[in-house]
Order: sequence, then C-alpha cells, then structure tokens
Amino acid sequence: MNEESGDPVNQRLAACIATLTPVLHGAIREAQVTEEELWTAVRFLNEIGEAGEFMLLSDVLGVSVVVDHITHDTDGAGTDANVMGPFYVPDAPLLDPPYALAPAGEPGEPLEVAGRVTDAVTGSPIAGAVLDVWQADVDGLYANQVPGRDPYHLRGRISAEEDGSYRFTTVTPPPYEIKKDGPVGRLLYALGRHAFRPAHLHLKISAPDHVGITTMIYFAGDPWLDSDTIGAVKPSLIVPIDRGNGAGAADPAPARCRFDVTLRPVDRA
Ligand code: BEZ
Ligand code: FE
Repeated sequence: MNEESGDPVNQRLAACIATLTPVLHGAIREAQVTEEELWTAVRFLNEIGEAGEFMLLSDVLGVSVVVDHITHDTDGAGTDANVMGPFYVPDAPLLDPPYALAPAGEPGEPLEVAGRVTDAVTGSPIAGAVLDVWQADVDGLYANQVPGRDPYHLRGRISAEEDGSYRFTTVTPPPYEIKKDGPVGRLLYALGRHAFRPAHLHLKISAPDHVGITTMIYFAGDPWLDSDTIGAVKPSLIVPIDRGNGAGAADPAPARCRFDVTLRPVDRA
C-alpha cells in the first residue's frame, strides 16, 4: 500500500522493476558507463519520445520479438506467431473470390499464395477461417506510408473454403528498410547496422473457437533472412517461391508459394 495515499501498490509493476533494476545496474557496471554517456543516453531517449519511435526502438533492440514470444508462443502446437509491426489497419475489405489482393496492373511480380487452414489438434479443415493480409508494394511502402493512397491498397480479408483451403493473388513484396530518418536510424548507423527487413507478407488469421494468430510469411533465398533488422524471422515461416516456367516464358505462370496454417482450438490453448 502507498503510505501517503493509501492506494494499493501496483504489484506487477513492482515485480518487473525489482527484476529489471539489478540487471540494469549490472549492465551499467559491466560497460562502465560514465556520467557524460548517461546524459547522452537521456538526450537520445528524449528524442526517441519526441519522434514517437519507442516501439521502433523496441523492435531494433529485439525486445518486441521476445515479448511476442512470451505472449503468443504456441509451444510447437500451431503455426508460429510473429510481431504485427506498425502498419496494420483494421477492417480491411472482405474480398470476394477469386481473391486478388493487388488491383489489376499493380507493378511487381505476380504471386499466387495458397494453403490450408486446419485445427492444430484434430487436423480438421477450418472452413471460413479469415486471413487478413497486408503487405508493402514494389517500392517497399505500405499504403499508409503513401500520402493520398487508398488506405486499403494491398490489404484485404480472404476466407478459407469448406476444405480449409485458401488462395489469393498479389505481387511479391520486396525487402524494405524500416524508418531510418530519425533517432533509431542514427542508432543503427552508429552501430554499423543496416535497416533491412527481408520480404514478407503479414497475416492475421482468425476462426471461431480457435486462437487467432498474427504472423508473417517469408521467402526462401531472401538475402536478409539471417540479419533481419528486427530479428523476427522464424524458420517455420519461410516458404519457397516456385517460379515454374519463369518470367521469360511466352505465357509465364505466376510465381507461387504455399503456406499452411494450423490454429489451436480455444479449449486446448
Ligand atoms: C513490419 O514488418 O512491417 C515492421 C515491423 C517492425 C518495424 C518496422 C516494420
Ligand atoms: Fe512489414
């Protein structure tokens, strides 16, 4: 209890601070941080706050990935979760079949994404599971980063069929750099680190009576898989892209990838 006000102590906060404090002191002693360096760090954190980059700082320090793991670990039962990132927009349009995330004429390599959504315990198909997908365009930009663009460009919700299968067309997203014109960018630069994320699609998958997940699909062969600037790549989320008869053919088939999803039932979560 707070002695002055009589209000109850925030026990959870107290436990976190009690854990953090000795670790922080130990790190500062080990690195022999000086007073001048402390002032530099305080100025930096003020700038981070002014720029609204605390979450981005958490991302590049790998904190977001650790917290995502603590919060959403499926312990091997069900498709792995992955961080949501800053570009999700709720209420994307519910698309009609045949599902096309990219409008006609969208620049980039045509890509077909298909798979099945099944129950992680029984293996039964989950008919009507909804996949809420969002991605960057060929320039590595999300719709909400481009002034004046339709906020739901390259975003949409897709339903799985009776047998749990789903299929949609889009364009292959490129690797892209995270925001680097602010204090987080300066930090990366000072550390000699790059700002790249490997190419990926973001998905939120939900179904009645199942634990929904937020995750990403990555693509085999991407040069940034091993050094993602936010360290979010999980091997289970990397799929090959089949380029079949290739872009040089007279009537090239779209590139294809397959991503199967398993969701845990709520009563076994
Ligand atoms: C993203 O994948 O959209 C993302 C995640 C964390 C920081 C920046 C971008
Ligand atoms: Fe992203």
